[in-house]
Amino acid sequence: MTLPWTPTTWRTKPIKQQPSYPDAAVVADVEKTLKKQPPLVFAGEARRLKKHLADVGAGRAFLLQGGDCAESFAEFSADNIRDTFRVLLQMAVVMTYGAAKPIVKVARMAGQFAKPRSDDFETQDGLRLPSYRGDMVNGIGFTEGERIPDPRRMLEVYHQSAATLNLMRAFASGGYADLHAVQRWNLDFARNSAQSEKYITLANRISEALRFMEACGLTAANTPQLRETEVFTSHEALLLPFEEAFVRTDSTTGDYYDTSAHMLWIGDRTRQLDGAHVEFMRGIKNPIGVKCGNSLPADDLLRLCDALNPDNEPGRLVLIARMGAGKVGEGLPPLLRALKREGKSVVWSCDPMHGNTIKAVNGYKTRPFDMILAEVRGFFEAHKAEGTIAGGVHFEMTGQDVTECLGGSQLIETEDLSSRYHTHCDPRLNATQALELAFLVADMLEKA
Ligand code: PEP
Ligand code: CO
Repeated sequence: MTLPWTPTTWRTKPIKQQPSYPDAAVVADVEKTLKKQPPLVFAGEARRLKKHLADVGAGRAFLLQGGDCAESFAEFSADNIRDTFRVLLQMAVVMTYGAAKPIVKVARMAGQFAKPRSDDFETQDGLRLPSYRGDMVNGIGFTEGERIPDPRRMLEVYHQSAATLNLMRAFASGGYADLHAVQRWNLDFARNSAQSEKYITLANRISEALRFMEACGLTAANTPQLRETEVFTSHEALLLPFEEAFVRTDSTTGDYYDTSAHMLWIGDRTRQLDGAHVEFMRGIKNPIGVKCGNSLPADDLLRLCDALNPDNEPGRLVLIARMGAGKVGEGLPPLLRALKREGKSVVWSCDPMHGNTIKAVNGYKTRPFDMILAEVRGFFEAHKAEGTIAGGVHFEMTGQDVTECLGGSQLIETEDLSSRYHTHCDPRLNATQALELAFLVADMLEKA
């Protein structure tokens, strides 16, 4: 029997990956302040995303989720927000063309600040300090002072997320995302790449189609779909005091929503059936994700579906497989089969990043582009073989010209990694690599 849920019932369950704050009174104070803040998103928007995701689950649309591994206070700027936003737009345009169906855009932005870690401590030159857990928790600098968890960081996350989301909304509906500007989204530094040329060719074709439609009477003025787009926000719901503070009762339905983002997900390290994160997530009505790594048996996944989506509501649950290029072919099909057999309504998405992280000989944490691509291929092949729907992709990427992942058409090599390695956590695809991947996914979608 399941006990009644409230926004605080997670506090009675075992919990992983939380900081130990030195002063509980300051935490309580911050929580009180956060509870009084206006929500970041509105329940009706989360419901809208759920409807779009139901379309994805039925094969009528495709999900593109992406953004930073970890947002940070240091990298916060209008240019960074714009650049990531426009790579998402570019990727979506490329994929829309390939798939000939709508692309549901969900950004890892405006709240993605808390990180789970494999080790609680980090040792450098004999000094052992608490691990960095994202700017929402502590500082990345390797000093004792920076690594002390500070709850007041949650307030800064709220304000930065509000400002980020405000700009994203302005870009989405204020003209920047107008399809007539499709040529202008091309990034300056990528201008001479093969991807850029391919993109320009596509953009020209779109512009031509728009001129034709205009001649038929469909203009930006009378067709909002041409001048506006919808971008939703998402992050890992890891730091539960923060998430709890944003649970609000929707006035139109009486349901609980976590208003810190449209979609929240449970990480691979915190998806225990009897744990605090599953308890928290089961009570909110947002669409939610669950990361599915290799260690997840089909039976446990079925029980997670029952706990998190007892009514089998379409669009509620996004299962994000992150198995690794070498393991997806063996690991994914049993899960697909079990869920299909039990008639579970889910969206299957592919995160080809987190199962393909390696340490380069020079010590940099990196991901080879070929392995990322191989996992996406394996994901599509598994779905084809099982007769299930490959619903989406989940990338860590940035609009900046960083050198964090190996390979791609720019042929980034091990010795290039140090040149522009800026991530606060995991290595991200740069804008050129992200666009290249979008073209390859578009090909797969066209064939599927
Ligand atoms: C992440 O998405 O940044 C992450 C930590 O993923 P996972 O939980 O799959 O390891
Ligand atoms: Co990551």
